[in-house]
Amino acid sequence: MLLREIIESYDPDTPLAEASTIPSSWYTDNRVFQLEQETVFSRSWQIAARVDQLNRPGDYVTTEIAGEPIVVVRGSDGELRGFFNVCRHHAAAVMTDAEGHAAQMRCPYHGWTYSLEGELKGTPDFSGVCDFDRANSGLVPIGIGTWEKWVFLKLEGDHLNESNADLDEFLGIDLIDQFQKLHLGDLHWVESRRYTLNCNWKVFVDNYLDGGYHVPHLHKGLDSVLNYSNYSIENGEHFCLQSSPMAEGDDDGVNAVRTGKRALYYWLYPNFMMNWYEGMLDTNLVRPLAVDRTEVIFEIWTSASQCSAACDRAPIRPDGFQ
Ligand code: FES
Repeated sequence: MLLREIIESYDPDTPLAEASTIPSSWYTDNRVFQLEQETVFSRSWQIAARVDQLNRPGDYVTTEIAGEPIVVVRGSDGELRGFFNVCRHHAAAVMTDAEGHAAQMRCPYHGWTYSLEGELKGTPDFSGVCDFDRANSGLVPIGIGTWEKWVFLKLEGDHLNESNADLDEFLGIDLIDQFQKLHLGDLHWVESRRYTLNCNWKVFVDNYLDGGYHVPHLHKGLDSVLNYSNYSIENGEHFCLQSSPMAEGDDDGVNAVRTGKRALYYWLYPNFMMNWYEGMLDTNLVRPLAVDRTEVIFEIWTSASQCSAACDRAPIRPDGFQ
């Protein structure tokens, strides 16, 4: 079957009552996976780092988006920038640690060096080379923006135009307003955990977006603190909010870390989840590694009072599989 036929075999405009899930080949065909990398993940804003990882000039984080190596760095001028982490000499990765602090970016292969602003500065033993366009041989920049606690990058497009205004448009004023009321600035990052799953990335997203359908059956603990009969779903242009009132309960176990009047489960297209309870946030970043392999990065944030009250008594268990 041609790739076009596979894609066109699904009609997204079918009325809801008659709708079906997407074809199984969308989860298993490597051509679909490659197409998603070139479209879904290259053309959307993607989480690259936490802002708190990049507080000082020289702080950097490396990652991969849509299969492309990336470095995010705070420049000497205090500006955050994103670059393809690919040396302009022979395409080695310039920065090889997951994160760190550096005065300049130095390629480990032949020692070319780049400033924190991405300009090519040092080229050992290269003085005899004629017509070398040094000014145009810096690291290739990528569109970058920040929102709340996260640094976002966008691979495709003119990096000068892909800025915070474009990110804000992608997020939408409704989502931005909703998050302003959550006061995430009061929360502190606690820890990250990484899991590799032998499944297509959309399996994780499907599970997250099933409207809490599986919660009463698979997650008894979570179910005990939610008032599932009043579970609600709201769709924005690029996000979905699943929300539930919290049930009355004791203050031990899961209730010790899941408190407040409502639980808010935000999904941001295509692969980021933000699970908010009063005084606590956990996030899930779903990273496709292959058509049948996915990495999910859990990050946990709490308020100082929530952590001192609950963290010592009950370990916070991230629950992306709601
Ligand atoms: S590949 Fe980076 S200096 Fe040669």
